[in-house]
Amino acid sequence: MGAHLLTVTDWSSLVRPSLVGLEPYRPGPSVSELRKEHGLDEIAKLNWNEDLFGPLPGALDAVKDELVNAWMYPEQAYSDLREAVAGWLELPPDTIVPAHGIQALIAAVAHAFIREGDTVVVPQPTYGLYAQVSAGAGARVVRIPNRDFRLDLPALVDAARTESARLIWICDPNNPTGSLIEQDEWSEFVSALPEGTVAVVDEAYREYVDPERRVAREADVQAGRPVVLLRTFSKIFGLAGLRLGYAVAHQELAPFLDVVQEPFNVNRAALAAGRACLAYPERIDERRRESGEARALLARLLAEAGIGSLPSEANFLLAHVGGDDAALAGELVVRGFLVRPGSEFGLDGWVRVTVGPPPLMERFARELAAVREAIPR
Ligand SMILES: Cc1ncc(COP(=O)(O)O)c(C=O)c1O
Repeated sequence: MGAHLLTVTDWSSLVRPSLVGLEPYRPGPSVSELRKEHGLDEIAKLNWNEDLFGPLPGALDAVKDELVNAWMYPEQAYSDLREAVAGWLELPPDTIVPAHGIQALIAAVAHAFIREGDTVVVPQPTYGLYAQVSAGAGARVVRIPNRDFRLDLPALVDAARTESARLIWICDPNNPTGSLIEQDEWSEFVSALPEGTVAVVDEAYREYVDPERRVAREADVQAGRPVVLLRTFSKIFGLAGLRLGYAVAHQELAPFLDVVQEPFNVNRAALAAGRACLAYPERIDERRRESGEARALLARLLAEAGIGSLPSEANFLLAHVGGDDAALAGELVVRGFLVRPGSEFGLDGWVRVTVGPPPLMERFARELAAVREAIPR
């Protein structure tokens, strides 16, 4: 007699119930598929806020030199990066938690804090992964609308208190609006945080902000406030494809984040590139200036074409095109430019555009002005 072999007919009854009904992130057609479809030699990726100026100088050589070590687990290099980041930020190394990007850290934070049935508070609109991952971990997501395209910190903290929220997710500068939190807003927010709520602050675009305007939240972490910071090498460092980021967390929280992450989750090439970038911090400042000038150029060119944009402190602009933003984005693809339609964030009539080198911004502004004339309003 043969053994009775089971077959699963309903995986949804076996996975965690909180996963049922959630949609995975679908990035859409790839650049090469779109090039083929529209017969284009090139497509400019102004849709994902990668740094279009490329990796910081020195990073790629460091990767090449490291590849010979690809056969070894990255155990030693891991503490090297921790120390390099800590030295750069003047923080104790045990407050730095390396990871393969902020996306991984969002999952680690959710895994570490959220119990089934907890509530989390999320601004609307903001980066979509906070709500997705929190819901997947079993949390109820309470969304708080932005006010005048800026995070409404008093409303977020009020909601955390009335809902006894486990987490508040904050994005500063915020994606997709580009808005920045001011120091006094932040201080009031931190002092109003209810007991039991942790503020998780995604600072993916921090390095694009003028240092004088940045809120130095590392001090809150060190003082033991309920604050965790998430940072990345995907943006100003130009290393999105290598997947590297880190959390700044209190010494006593950091080991819990390490517990929920895979031990060797950052690869050697990424670690080498990250260390090389930090060896010359002045290159980060140079990139910030370059990117800021390109952002100002894009804002000016759009304004000349009658297209307003929000003040931004990041490497993207939210531009008011009016009318059908998805149709406009579709027309721009045909002409070789990818942008993010605002309607994907609930911002109908807007598009989010990644900043890049000036000649690209000039070509883009010309095409956008032409396409805008042709779309329904
Ligand atoms: C606000 C924000 N956080 C995180 C990420 C992703 O970061 P990482 O590449 O480090 O996973 C992005 C990417 O666009 C982002 O906009």
